[in-house]
Amino acid sequence: MLTLDCMEKIAISSTKGGVGKTSFTLMLSQYLKKNGLKIGILDADIYGPNILANRGHKISSTDAQSKFLPINQGGIEVSSISLIINDSEAAIWRGPMLSQAIKALHDNTNWSDLDYLLIDMPPGTGDAYLTVFQSLDVKKSLLVTTNDKYALYDNLKTISLFKKLSIELCGIIENMSEDFSLDEKPIHNSELAKYLSSSVLASLPLTKRAIIHEETLKLNRLEKYFTKELLKL
Ligand SMILES: Nc1ncnc2c1ncn2[C@@H]1O[C@H](COP(=O)(O)OP(=O)(O)O)[C@@H](O)[C@H]1O
Ligand SMILES: [Mg+2]
Repeated sequence: MLTLDCMEKIAISSTKGGVGKTSFTLMLSQYLKKNGLKIGILDADIYGPNILANRGHKISSTDAQSKFLPINQGGIEVSSISLIINDSEAAIWRGPMLSQAIKALHDNTNWSDLDYLLIDMPPGTGDAYLTVFQSLDVKKSLLVTTNDKYALYDNLKTISLFKKLSIELCGIIENMSEDFSLDEKPIHNSELAKYLSSSVLASLPLTKRAIIHEETLKLNRLEKYFTKELLKL
């Protein structure tokens, strides 16, 4: 049986906000589940935790070891920072508090024998990243980006962080690939790979905003955008 220590943990990262980290985390979780794997998600986005589709969950269930049970969301185990802070409350925690909250969430959730724990990261390169990569024994990450120069410039910072902390970059997820900034042409896949020194594992199209979360459940429509390498994480 896999334990917390030996399950595969992968952070879904990007310095840039709004590029689709959360959306992709949901898509990947469904994709891996559909391929027979047991998946959990740790929502570490302290600034805007939004993995849980239904609000109002609270940490209530405890077992003998005072651990809380993850929320079951469509067969995926989810533990989110939103379970410990109110929706309308700003997270104004300083570094140590923030780190403690993320670590407590990770350690005190009673995960079952998961194959993969995906960690939905906040934007930036700050405390949450240091905590996840230094205290939670996470050594791998996927990088989500859009194909415009602003996202690329920001994500060079993510790459630099990975290098400093010896984190393995598993690959790039190009999201909203038909989207591009005002007077620019979108940056081609191969250029993206060259610029970020990694391979592009998925190029997800821009779909209508309102249906993006529903789309994540219709993998037959999205699967063609994933490469086989994704399952070899
Ligand atoms: N492929 C896509 N097509 C259309 N809208 C998308 C796509 N991916 C993400 N979005 C939308 O973009 C916004 C930001 O996505 P989100 O996953 O919250 O980004 P992040 O977690 O990086 O901040 C959301 O409104 C989401 O529904
Ligand atoms: Mg997010």
